[in-house]
Amino acid sequence: MKSKKNLKKDEKEAAEQYARSFKSYHSWRTKENPQGWFYNDHLEIPAVNKLLGNVEGKKILDFGCGTGIYTKKLAKKGAVVKGFDISEEMLSIARKENLQLDLRKGSGYEIPFKEKFDIVLASLVVHYLKDWDEMFQEVSRVLKKGGYFIFSTGNPVMESIKKSKQEVDYFHDGKFCADWKDNTGKEMKMHYYHKTYEKIIQAIIKNKFEIVDYKDCFPIKKAKKIFPEEYDKYSREPLFTAWKIKKK
Ligand SMILES: C[S@@+](CC[C@H](N)C(=O)[O-])C[C@H]1O[C@@H](n2cnc3c(N)ncnc32)[C@H](O)[C@@H]1O
Repeated sequence: MKSKKNLKKDEKEAAEQYARSFKSYHSWRTKENPQGWFYNDHLEIPAVNKLLGNVEGKKILDFGCGTGIYTKKLAKKGAVVKGFDISEEMLSIARKENLQLDLRKGSGYEIPFKEKFDIVLASLVVHYLKDWDEMFQEVSRVLKKGGYFIFSTGNPVMESIKKSKQEVDYFHDGKFCADWKDNTGKEMKMHYYHKTYEKIIQAIIKNKFEIVDYKDCFPIKKAKKIFPEEYDKYSREPLFTAWKIKKK
């Protein structure tokens, strides 16, 4: 792992942002926070699970494993899972919940593993990395030939709406920010990098991957009863995308 002062600006910023918000993130990502439970178990996770398919016996690398939400689920389903994340604080929760697993501190620009995997999964991570060519080359290095990179990220159109100004800035390929809560419940800004569909698809092709599946993350039926308002909103408004691409 690179020393902290050699981290790229985006890696350093992500690590700092998650040091400030790892506790609130974990409660948001689990049933602990009922509103968060909608976005996760009823919207993003079901779509990604469909792309993952049967994971039993598969060697999976959880890229940006965070607090280990997927790590735990995949291990329970019989996958051989390892993971890494840039944030020590996020990893501290992941390690508590996944005691026997190999979870390392490291970056998507310099993946801290030498072995090859069947699947690399990056759930809601890639928008923190500015340089996707560098990221795809690293993912390719740790994937077997024919292996899959499955990643979820914001819908490029919806995430380009600058909420504070009520304007859309889709073609501006760059840094955006969202309103988050820190560990004490105070408002904070979370920065991420917006990419257009064109930029995403070009990066996939340029780095010798092939798109094999894609999901718009439509809410699951069960959510209609438990979260009627959210179900109504997000069955009209696409929030997340999930991609399955194959190393050629
Ligand atoms: C929204 S969280 C997702 C965590 C986890 N994948 C999940 O599904 O709950 C984003 C994670 O990406 C990590 N991250 C951001 N930039 C990274 C980078 N350059 N390399 C590795 N991890 C990074 C953050 O530390 C954070 O844990």
